[in-house]
Amino acid sequence: MEQILVFCRPGFETEAGREVTDSAAERGIFGYFEPVKNQGLVRFYPAAPETADDVMVRLMLDELVFVRDWIVVLGEFSLPDTDRVGAVIEGLRGLGRGYPGCARLEVRLSENNADGDLGNFARKWVSPLSRGLRGAGLLEADQNASAPARLEVFLPDFASVVVGYSLADNRARYVGGIPRLRLPASAPSRSALKLEEAWKVFLPPEQELDYLGGGKKAADLGAAPGGWTWQLVRQGMMVTAVDNGPMNAELMASGQVEHVEADGYGWRPKRGIDWMVCDIVDQPRKTAKLAVTWLGEGLCRYTVFNLKLPMKKRYDEWLICRDILVNGLSAAGIGFRLKARHLYHDREEITCFIERTG
Ligand SMILES: C[S@@+](CC[C@H](N)C(=O)[O-])C[C@H]1O[C@@H](n2cnc3c(N)ncnc32)[C@H](O)[C@@H]1O
Repeated sequence: MEQILVFCRPGFETEAGREVTDSAAERGIFGYFEPVKNQGLVRFYPAAPETADDVMVRLMLDELVFVRDWIVVLGEFSLPDTDRVGAVIEGLRGLGRGYPGCARLEVRLSENNADGDLGNFARKWVSPLSRGLRGAGLLEADQNASAPARLEVFLPDFASVVVGYSLADNRARYVGGIPRLRLPASAPSRSALKLEEAWKVFLPPEQELDYLGGGKKAADLGAAPGGWTWQLVRQGMMVTAVDNGPMNAELMASGQVEHVEADGYGWRPKRGIDWMVCDIVDQPRKTAKLAVTWLGEGLCRYTVFNLKLPMKKRYDEWLICRDILVNGLSAAGIGFRLKARHLYHDREEITCFIERTG
């Protein structure tokens, strides 16, 4: 049966499933989903004549918010106690269908896998499995060849395996959408990782310096204790940190931060600046309107902000906020690029990025 395996944050399976189903339908692909509850997995089944390959061609991962990563499922095979490599080779040979060329493979586990033995096995399995599949002609002979796809091997347990593929131009930059970021000891809060991840996910990697470098000016609304401000300072920016709460003293000593004790929703810069970031936990619609005002009035060029979504209505609330953003910015007559994502470092909130274009 045609199928996409979707990865999301455990607990957000319904949101990810509804989003894929709606977005695929908008592109003429109808189907239904099955959440694998609290596993961070969703199965999406496109209805014939459309196929899982069609989904990958017509729907881009970076247009989705709750889907962290995805693969086209080729087959699900049982694994014996011995010669598991042989079982995968046999399974793939018996598929009766082809798949885009793959030079490498990735062995994945469920995000909340608690079985350390399975983790060890997965790590050690990559190399014999790659060798076996290469020898069988199921992976490109040259592992460094540029290939349109990667073979994906998902291990729910020791007894079974889901094998699929992901396309190089339509998958998460980090496997499973999980970047391994390190928090330096000098960072004032763990939130710092959120802004770093947002930049890694939303900014074109080869253009990061254009967006962040060159001594830009930024405002951080809801800045205390200063994790996000610290990231902006690290990029060489001059930052106005707006918050009634106290800022980290070491960060203030950088000389790059002005602390303004004010309401972040009311404060405005005297003239336009480069970045506005906002991590205030408040009604998401209020924050969405704030972003429209800043961009619409030319107060900033780029913005990253969080929307804290209400339990049980997370997907619906996002759709409302998206309308506020798209309609508001269109009414303001500006060009913009809007991206949003439920980042690995997010919990109940999602993170949005908008840049003014043109
Ligand atoms: C999640 S914390 C921000 C953490 C920060 N991004 C960091 O990396 O350290 C939210 C902050 O928003 C502030 N806050 C809440 N309502 C605010 C408002 N209306 N204006 C400005 N700050 C506000 C709180 O005082 C709190 O410090």
